[in-house]
Amino acid sequence: MSTSTRHPGDRLGALIAQGPAEPSDMPSQHRQLTVMFADLVGSTALLEEHGPEAFSDLLRIYHNLCTEATRTQDGTVANYLGDGVISYFGYPRGTEDDPLRAVQAAWTILQNLEQLNRKLAGARLAARIGIATGRVIIHQKPGDYYGENVVGACLNKAARLQTLASANTAVVCAATRKLAGKAFDFEDLGPQDLKGFEQPEVVFRLRPRRRKGLSRFEALRGERRTPLVGRDRELALLRKLMARAAGGSGGAAVLVGEPGIGKSRLIDVLRRDRAMESARFLSLQCSPAHQFSSLHPVKDYLDWVSGVNADDARDVRRDKLRRLFQSAWQTDEEQTAVLMDVVASSGPEQEANADIGILLKRRMAFQILSKKVFSTAVPGHPLLLVFEDVHWIDPTSAEFLENLVRNAADHACTVLTTTRPEGPFAGRLSALGEVVQLERLSDAQSVELAKATGLAAGMDEETLHVIVEKSDGVPLFVEEYASMLAENLGGREKGEGQKVRRDVPMTLGGLVQNKLDRLNPHAQKVARIGATVGRVFDLQLVRSLSALGRTTFDKALATLEAADIAHRGTASGSQPAAIFKHALVQDAVYGSLSTAERRRLHGLVADAMLADKGGRRITAEVLADHLLAAGRNRESAEWRLTAAMAAAGEGSAAEALAHITRGLAATELLPAGDERDDVELRLRAIEGPTLMVTRGPGNPAFGAAQARALELLRRQNKPDNLVPVIYNTALHDWACGRLAEADRVNDEIFAILDAEPSDAAYLAAHTMRGLVAWHRGDNPAALEHLSATVARYDPALHREFYMRFLKEFGVFGRFYLGLTHTVMGKTAEGAKHAKAALELAKLVKRPHVYGFALLANFVTAMLRDDVPTASRYSEEGIEFAGRQGFPEMVAMSMICQGWAKAKRGAIDTGIHQMEEGSALWAMTGFANWQAYFASLLSDAYVAVGRLDEARALLDRHDERVARFGEAQFEPLLAKSRAVLLAAAGDSGGAAAAMQIARERAARNKAALWMG
Ligand SMILES: Nc1ncnc2c1ncn2[C@@H]1O[C@H](COP(=O)(O)OP(=O)(O)O)[C@@H](O)[C@H]1O
Ligand SMILES: [Mg+2]
Repeated sequence: MSTSTRHPGDRLGALIAQGPAEPSDMPSQHRQLTVMFADLVGSTALLEEHGPEAFSDLLRIYHNLCTEATRTQDGTVANYLGDGVISYFGYPRGTEDDPLRAVQAAWTILQNLEQLNRKLAGARLAARIGIATGRVIIHQKPGDYYGENVVGACLNKAARLQTLASANTAVVCAATRKLAGKAFDFEDLGPQDLKGFEQPEVVFRLRPRRRKGLSRFEALRGERRTPLVGRDRELALLRKLMARAAGGSGGAAVLVGEPGIGKSRLIDVLRRDRAMESARFLSLQCSPAHQFSSLHPVKDYLDWVSGVNADDARDVRRDKLRRLFQSAWQTDEEQTAVLMDVVASSGPEQEANADIGILLKRRMAFQILSKKVFSTAVPGHPLLLVFEDVHWIDPTSAEFLENLVRNAADHACTVLTTTRPEGPFAGRLSALGEVVQLERLSDAQSVELAKATGLAAGMDEETLHVIVEKSDGVPLFVEEYASMLAENLGGREKGEGQKVRRDVPMTLGGLVQNKLDRLNPHAQKVARIGATVGRVFDLQLVRSLSALGRTTFDKALATLEAADIAHRGTASGSQPAAIFKHALVQDAVYGSLSTAERRRLHGLVADAMLADKGGRRITAEVLADHLLAAGRNRESAEWRLTAAMAAAGEGSAAEALAHITRGLAATELLPAGDERDDVELRLRAIEGPTLMVTRGPGNPAFGAAQARALELLRRQNKPDNLVPVIYNTALHDWACGRLAEADRVNDEIFAILDAEPSDAAYLAAHTMRGLVAWHRGDNPAALEHLSATVARYDPALHREFYMRFLKEFGVFGRFYLGLTHTVMGKTAEGAKHAKAALELAKLVKRPHVYGFALLANFVTAMLRDDVPTASRYSEEGIEFAGRQGFPEMVAMSMICQGWAKAKRGAIDTGIHQMEEGSALWAMTGFANWQAYFASLLSDAYVAVGRLDEARALLDRHDERVARFGEAQFEPLLAKSRAVLLAAAGDSGGAAAAMQIARERAARNKAALWMG
């Protein structure tokens, strides 16, 4: 959009004028809305002064800032009008504090602009903000989530008020001022004429001061009632961290303690600190329902900040996120694409590992996100970044968090984490920064807290003693026991206290149950359904499941709030939700349900989610959990499968495997039969390849998954699905050194090929036969079969076989054909095939395949003693395979690097790296190739006089090779033996060993080693 010199109010007026007339077929809604219009001051001057390019950068920064401030207050950015931004508070859904939120957003924009101006060299950005509240008409139209169809005078009024504001101030209408409450101070500007409005109106200017805002989760939880007890030492430590961060050198700490001990509370207190006035606060929350949803807390935050609602369809969500990245974060096209793939994947339909380096993308996304996070942290205005409850964190977020912790030191940022003692960080808490253990309260502190609740007024010593004893120093329990005793003792005769105290429940569960029992049945019902849904529950969903009328439901909810069981707020987007006071309270309410009731409720929740399929984004793993708890095991396993596929599609192998394990557990609960076999088979079909890619083909779990899949397939008699599984079974045998077994298994593919010719069977059978032949030292057979593969392979027809085999026959065939030619003495031909493999890999764009192509190039180079080429490709190999997490490829690259270093004279370093690589290789369960590595290492040992080590190594591998039948490397082992004996002064022995080497090479037709 170009910068217009026209009056912004006119532009807005024009926009409103363009707005739709009132078509009668659209449902209209009358409602209160707060509109904020934030215009950039002096844009024409800025443009002239800085030139179009720098100006458009400034403009984007400005938009970024306004969008974030809006979203942080649950507003919607309705439009960018040239340099102005129009935001709605109360659209698409309204809450009573919309005007307050709008003022809060305006305040944030003004603050941040000032902060920004201190950073920007030369440029000065200032905004003029107008805020108006009034009735509007909304013509609801499907797909309109930015409020293009809102009509009302307050839109115009906001624009007029904006013109009254001086640079970097906000002016609000009387209604806004009144409704914003006491949170801010305003200056009365008296009655003003507003163009287009008949009556002059009293308007107000926002004074630069505010009461502290609520974080998203605090807002959910409600205000605290009691002062903090104890925790002086911990608080001092956190303050010190924040002070250091303000000075520009950040840090990290983790608060560790059992549930209810006061971790979250401590963060709340810190946030309200005086010293935090100039700080920014960002909080990410982990959830037990999403322990295996990759990046869940991050996605949840991004959904929230970009205004995604729980009932938005997938493409709506994608639109909103893209808008956030592009318009607000100013990401370029490539960055946007990366972020979209990683945090806004289209879900299960996204093809697993579909294009090059999804893991690489993940790394890039981490970088973009960290940069974004840290960019808001500037000295003087530090950022407090909180990750709550990381005992529930998903593996990908854990990686991201560790990344942030490692980099915090260079930024004005404190990364603060809370966790229970268990979970993925147990045993390595220091990875999260300084460890702060929260201990239980002392008896005196418990009494102090009980009194501070205001509930203990008039309680006798004995009652206080019961509280202290029962709660055992856990603050949450202190609160709950105090509240229960206060209630039960209220209005009783003195003598009855004894009995009440005696009947106090032993556990929090009993306590909450007791509390619940005293509430009316509607409130109980709402609590129970809510507890089934989760700690945070969507009100719309729970109300529809409760079948209560709106008024009754609202009353029930108010009762729960009064009882301090759950509190109202907004969850994702502006979806009305409630949150249980504490995870333990949710557990306790849930614990009060009978097994049958649980099943029934989970079933209802699942059905409601399923019925909503079209709109609401279904989180597959959440649905799978509900279905499992409802005893609907087959459906649960199916949704686990969906979750696993989605995770694999995002490159999150750990999450995918976790879903598969749970899916298989659900499958086990099914009655034996075809249906069960079918679900299990589909789970195994993802499990095997995921294990192979992440742990290497020699991994025993991979073998077990393949064997099981094969068994199921045979039982089902489905020959066309059989070939990939047989192929990978043979591959596992091969990797474990069972060459004869691999051949035998592969015979079955040849039999299938005979019975029913197909390209898939042809390529699989010949590749496997060639691969095994090569390791057996039968180079002519290897040549025949691998040439057959390469000749038949056509990327246009066969590249999608990858999805079934996890093997790219074109690349893999060329890899081994290149090796065969090289060993047979045709080194140039070998190099040619390796190059062709790389070209093809670039075309098919699969990370694992690209890894193989790198291997092809450096291994052929090593064989022909071409150090520079081997060095170059293995360097890329280490980097690439390391990033992707392909362990056996990393190992082979390390060995090659070590070899090249030794060749160049850095023998000790080289040896060290070869040893490390060999150990890593062996750890993946890969039996083959080890003899080759041993011969390279032996030569290096000999070169530095470590003859005993060389001898031991060769002895061991002579024996292994004989056992496994990996005859390809026999000539090399004999050659290395000759080198060793010569160095030991045994020239006769050396000559004899050389003779053996020659004979073996001749037997193998390995011309390379005949000399
Ligand atoms: N030191 C404390 N002083 C006063 N109240 C506390 C203290 N620690 C915790 N509480 C209260 O106990 C309850 C549970 O604390 P919370 O921070 O949610 O626990 P956690 O996050 O460790 O599970 C909250 O209502 C909180 O206000
Ligand atoms: Mg907590």
